[in-house]
Amino acid sequence: MKLSKLASDIAESPTLALNEEARLLRERGEAVINLGIGEPKNKTPISAVLASGAKLTSGEVKYTPPDGLPAMKKAVIRYTEENYNRLVAPENVIVTNGAKQSLFNIFYSILNPQDEVIVIAPYWVSYNEMIKMCLGVPVIVTPEDGTFTPRFADIERAVTSSTRAIIVNSPNNPSGAIYPPELLEKIVDMCERKGIFMICDDIYHKLTFDRNVAPPAYSFTKKDVENSHVIVVNGVAKLYGMTGFRLGWVVAPRELVKVMTNVLAQTTSCVSPIAQAAAEGALNGLQSVVEALRLQIQNNRDVVLQEMKTFNGARLIEPKGTFYALPDLRAFNGNSVELSRFLLKKALVVTVPGKEFGMEGHIRISFAGSVKEVTEGIARIKWALDPTSPNEIFIGNKKMIRDWM
Ligand SMILES: Cc1ncc(COP(=O)(O)O)c(C=O)c1O
Repeated sequence: MKLSKLASDIAESPTLALNEEARLLRERGEAVINLGIGEPKNKTPISAVLASGAKLTSGEVKYTPPDGLPAMKKAVIRYTEENYNRLVAPENVIVTNGAKQSLFNIFYSILNPQDEVIVIAPYWVSYNEMIKMCLGVPVIVTPEDGTFTPRFADIERAVTSSTRAIIVNSPNNPSGAIYPPELLEKIVDMCERKGIFMICDDIYHKLTFDRNVAPPAYSFTKKDVENSHVIVVNGVAKLYGMTGFRLGWVVAPRELVKVMTNVLAQTTSCVSPIAQAAAEGALNGLQSVVEALRLQIQNNRDVVLQEMKTFNGARLIEPKGTFYALPDLRAFNGNSVELSRFLLKKALVVTVPGKEFGMEGHIRISFAGSVKEVTEGIARIKWALDPTSPNEIFIGNKKMIRDWM
């Protein structure tokens, strides 16, 4: 069969593939723990359920304007004013099928073939593939000091005459790092001076722990949205745990939003009005649901830190936000794909190899699930790798003995 080379070269989404593998094992009755997927366990906020239910029962479920329903945009405008201190016009907002579509459409709308986008490692798996789909070139900047925070000098050095954008995801998937304000300030300044887009993937911006905050890039520029090179991507997936509604949005200069609207109109037409009603309901509803989710995830993060303390050989930089931890397990195996496979086979725990995020020797653990899953999952990983941990464990109702070391 002859297929497109461009499409065939796109890598499978490793997290979705691992999720499927876990589902198949579970179907076979195996006691799998999935620490792979980044999906909170909470129920959809009631305000979103009621709003989308009302839309559905109205029977008026039709195409909407491609850039989003006016009421949904209004909710985004209010959110932007409250959280970013920026008053924006409806023409600065586009509503998309998840933050994923936001990002793809941005890349498609700003890149010409061979244009470069700076991506900071560790990075979210989809950035590079999306950039390549849009004929762009990802240029990876990796912190050399073993931390998850890049040095500004390394970012600056990666800029060439072909650089069109830099993507900044703080709090960061997969490391949980929050970039310091001084770094963000320098990136904003560089982007505004050189006319490079700073794409802020803010999907985790409220999921921060203790007293940490993730400052918005807008706080480092005096320019209004229309004249700024800052682009903000956000959505309801992580904010309200509404992953299945597939709703994201972009705030950007109207010239870019106009082009993105045409791209969206010619590909997916619009976001389902049911999903838009749900997101509008969530944004306009009680915001205590966000704090409840944050507290639950922070508690899980504390459990991870506690459990990791007794994991000899593992090195973990404390996650300051998101629901991911990225321990360095090079003491056991430098090949993270092998390591993840080993953990699935021996301990029935799904993790994601750090290689997928540009951090070989690490594995990503998602702690978005229940405390029980997180505690048991890490205990199993310790059992499988750490010779100083007890060599017997129960997996499901089977007693397992570690006999490979
Ligand atoms: C960093 C990052 N950006 C974007 C997304 C996509 O979000 P959505 O589900 O709204 O498409 C994810 C989802 O995992 C993510 O981790």
